[in-house]
Amino acid sequence: PRFTALRGRLLSFRRAPTGPGDADSHVCIPDGLLLIADGRIQAVGTYADLKDQIPAGVAVDHHPDGLILPGFIDTHIHFPQTQVIASYGAQLLDWLEKYTFIEEQKYADPAHAAAGARFFLDELLRNGTTTAAAYGSVHPQSVDALFAEAERRGAGLIAGKVMMDRHAPAALTDSAESGYADSKALIERWHRRGRQRYAVTPRFAITSTEAQLEAAGALLREHPGVHMQTHLSENLDEIATVRRLFPTARDYTDVYDRFGLLGPTSLFGHCIHLSEEEMRRLSDSGSVAVFCPTSNLFIGSGLFDRAALSRADRPVRQSLATDVGGGTSYSMLRTAGEAYKVLQMRGQNLSALAAFDLMTRGNAAALGMADEIGTLEPGRWADLVVLDARATPAMRHRMNAIDGDLEEELFVLMILGDDRAVTHTYLRGEKAYDRAAPTAE
Ligand code: GUN
Ligand code: FE
Repeated sequence: PRFTALRGRLLSFRRAPTGPGDADSHVCIPDGLLLIADGRIQAVGTYADLKDQIPAGVAVDHHPDGLILPGFIDTHIHFPQTQVIASYGAQLLDWLEKYTFIEEQKYADPAHAAAGARFFLDELLRNGTTTAAAYGSVHPQSVDALFAEAERRGAGLIAGKVMMDRHAPAALTDSAESGYADSKALIERWHRRGRQRYAVTPRFAITSTEAQLEAAGALLREHPGVHMQTHLSENLDEIATVRRLFPTARDYTDVYDRFGLLGPTSLFGHCIHLSEEEMRRLSDSGSVAVFCPTSNLFIGSGLFDRAALSRADRPVRQSLATDVGGGTSYSMLRTAGEAYKVLQMRGQNLSALAAFDLMTRGNAAALGMADEIGTLEPGRWADLVVLDARATPAMRHRMNAIDGDLEEELFVLMILGDDRAVTHTYLRGEKAYDRAAPTAE
């Protein structure tokens, strides 16, 4: 096998922290060693204990000042929106029409999609994100381009072609039949090819007819294990439109439920304005509510109610995501910082431990991939990020007032950190990004 090794301070979560100070939720090894064989973690422990197991001739990547974590996981991001990010002055439905539906048309061109895929993966890796659940455009060639680039780099993505057969420009619509056939062909081509996974991706209830939602449900039934991703209850005008379009449905969640789209492999972006009944259905079905704080603030959609969704008698599984280009940053650190502020506005809390657990182990669990990624345990892919809590003058100055406390350091990283705090990113134990290396652009 091919061996690689990393040395430095290691941090990995065991379970969701119950709150600040939950020392049992994670393992931190001050001078640790990761031994990696063929891209997977083979052994993890202290450098002193493991150094004799380093095979002869294997150079150890030593990060004496770095904090090594499992790579970040982004559970909701739009691949064709890299040139939509930071579009001025609109709420959801206008934002889609005015900016997004214009830009996504360019992804009919395979060359544009291939160049976009290179930028997209560069940017994820620069931000320490090693796995993402990504929406393509309606064009299957956009998803082919993205999976091909991920495969070339050794990254594992979850992605799907957007299905939308109404209420969008003609150049961006498929049909119930073509959406089904194109998605099926992509599943056969890419699902479980190496690390790649497919997600059936009806954009949202407004842009799919009943026939198309029916087809999406059929794809899930015919391909067990395939993921599902869509948007749910993001914006009040959106919700009113869904009510008008589906007058016999009990509520927005029920629209998806009727077509068999709820379940443990289903990711629902936003989930901001849900009723009690909807949260109960999401909980019962094991569906995931995806918190997209920078997007929810930027598009003016509302404040995610983590406490309501977490209620012990009907807990809804949750994950954290950027939602670029409605979201304003590729950085999961920045995203966690905005999540903290959103919850502050609701009188709720997100501890640094909870945030870092969510970005790594928690998001992996939400994707049903906890035995593949998200922790530093033997058998997991060695997708890693190396962080520097002294990356900027403001961070350094703040860190000088902190006496080695891990939780305070993590909080500095999530409130002040972004791509500048990422020194290295590894995919399968191989360096995929190095902050110090010159870039092409
Ligand atoms: N709802 C339907 N499509 C989209 C999208 O592209 N971004 C966001 N934020 N919400 C959506
Ligand atoms: Fe989105």
